[in-house]
Amino acid sequence: MNVAAEPRRAEAWNGPAGAHRAGHQDRYGAMRCDALRYDAMPAGVNDALFGAAAVAPGDRVLDVGCGAGATTRIAARLAAPGYAVGVDVSAPLPARARASTAVEGIANATYECADARVRAFPAGGYDVVVSRGGVRFFADRAAAFRNLVRALRPGGRLAFVCPRPPGPESEQGRALARLVDERTGPDPVAARTAMASLSDPARVREALAGYEEVTVVPVTVETVWGRDVRDAAEFLLSRVPGGALPASRLAGLEEALRPFHTGTGVRMRADVWLVTAIRP
Ligand SMILES: C[S@@+](CC[C@H](N)C(=O)[O-])C[C@H]1O[C@@H](n2cnc3c(N)ncnc32)[C@H](O)[C@@H]1O
Repeated sequence: MNVAAEPRRAEAWNGPAGAHRAGHQDRYGAMRCDALRYDAMPAGVNDALFGAAAVAPGDRVLDVGCGAGATTRIAARLAAPGYAVGVDVSAPLPARARASTAVEGIANATYECADARVRAFPAGGYDVVVSRGGVRFFADRAAAFRNLVRALRPGGRLAFVCPRPPGPESEQGRALARLVDERTGPDPVAARTAMASLSDPARVREALAGYEEVTVVPVTVETVWGRDVRDAAEFLLSRVPGGALPASRLAGLEEALRPFHTGTGVRMRADVWLVTAIRP
């Protein structure tokens, strides 16, 4: 992979992609979005991720590509009296994360804006490294995961989730992939590259050459995209750069989302890989 591509990606995360996530953090990452009374979009993966990460009281946790810090705050709660550090290359997101952490009164979560691929983390400084979808954007995967293994103490755990191509059995997954056509995302090139980057378990294992006991397990989770079809369609279209929303697209998306409307929001299943590994 081309290492020189990394600055362009950092730029993208500091542009529309980061701003969109910061502006929609309830939907992208909150544990629970009380105002809308449904679990936020990727919250379904939290149980799988934190079940595998097994964060224990006293642990030091690093959350890679932490976004607005929802998982950093979960890790901090589980690790107390230890702590969690969230790292993200996009400046608006750690800033958003700090604000939410203050509101929630969490004292043992901190954030830094840095590229996790090259950041000089304290050697052996963490017991657990977690990531909810934040480790699939590295231009040089092998170098990035080598940097992360150095950050773990011997015997320390890595646990992350990343997207898995929907299987033939997953009608909802296929519909989701169609609806959330990555060409309409805030950073189309990065999104397509990222979707492909760790979707093949062989590539995951290759990237984790420096780790032991690597497991790659398919998990299907429920995701919530909006309180009703209009809300979900508007959110999906808000990802389009420039924000011009032709009425025909809105109507078409609403129609496509209708089968997934339940009494508790627009819900679809999504397929992910749950990956775990140990530092030798
Ligand atoms: C799909 S988002 C996931 C955010 C968060 N983990 C969540 O679940 O809400 C991916 C995140 O990875 C961050 N990211 C991408 N490349 C990175 C890098 N090289 N170092 C640190 N963060 C990175 C992006 O800025 C973005 O916030």
